[in-house]
Amino acid sequence: MEQIQNIYRVVNNEKLCPQFWRLSFDAPLLVKKVQPGQFVHVRTAEGLEPFFRRPFSVYRAQRYMEIFYEPIGPGTRLLTSKQKGDTIDVLGPLGTPFVLPPQGIQQVVMISGGIGIAPMLILSDVLKKKNYDLILLYGGRTRSHVYPMKEFKDNGVKVHIATDDGSAGNKGRVSVLFDKIKFNPESTFIYTCGPNPMMKAVQDFANKNGLKGQAACEEVMACALGACLGCSIETKHGYKTVCYDGPAFDLDEVLFH
Ligand SMILES: Cc1cc2nc3c(=O)[nH]c(=O)nc-3n(C[C@H](O)[C@H](O)[C@H](O)COP(=O)(O)OP(=O)(O)OC[C@H]3O[C@@H](n4cnc5c(N)ncnc54)[C@H](O)[C@@H]3O)c2cc1C
Ligand code: FES
Repeated sequence: MEQIQNIYRVVNNEKLCPQFWRLSFDAPLLVKKVQPGQFVHVRTAEGLEPFFRRPFSVYRAQRYMEIFYEPIGPGTRLLTSKQKGDTIDVLGPLGTPFVLPPQGIQQVVMISGGIGIAPMLILSDVLKKKNYDLILLYGGRTRSHVYPMKEFKDNGVKVHIATDDGSAGNKGRVSVLFDKIKFNPESTFIYTCGPNPMMKAVQDFANKNGLKGQAACEEVMACALGACLGCSIETKHGYKTVCYDGPAFDLDEVLFH
């Protein structure tokens, strides 16, 4: 797929909760092209530090492109200083998108940990048009990692929350929420994104219960174009790049370490 590198106008950059921010920029062509599960590669600095672009899942693509981020290092901290009217240098859309649920699926369960919620909103924007029963199981470390998730609810998504310390929702990892759902191998499809140990737990659960799904993987990236092989991960079919072959893979394909 053809990528566009361009400078865009920031239209909003806001803190949604103590840990997470959302940045919107005006990129009509990107909005038209992008598919759920794809990402953009963002130059976060005006100068040379950090040198490499940083990858961000596309959170939403409606009137504007939106990314959802957690300031955890130099690049994402710099992003918090962007204001309406500033510019941002973005390359995208990149990567292989999620596949849509196969025929016969009635229930879609999105399972996310922390910033792994980012690719799920655009996914729910697409899936809501197909009348699936949409469910989000979200795990955050503390209540600082939980925000209202209004846009999911507006899309008809039933949201269940767990936090490690029990400060919001159920206490424990996101897997404590598995009991809340009646999974059916014939009619349920899973999408997951989050830390590798979480996705491994989702994969184990899916394998045990005969469920199929897709996982959006993350790796540290340099080129984001499939050239440097720096983001390779191990799969049942050998090493594959997250930036080009992924981020979306069949859930049972990835060997999570
Ligand atoms: C396909 C893809 C989509 C992503 N989507 C989002 C998103 O929507 N929102 C968001 O906030 N972040 C997302 N990330 C992660 C984000 O790009 C990185 O955390 C980025 O490195 C942050 O830049 P930084 O300069 O702030 O911190 P850095 O200094 O680059 O990183 C801070 C710390 O996180 C570690 N780290 C960096 N990247 C990763 C990774 N992929 N996995 C595990 N540890 C890592 C570093 O080793 C370091 O210890 C995504 C990553 C990928 C590959
Ligand atoms: S980051 Fe270079 S191949 Fe993926």
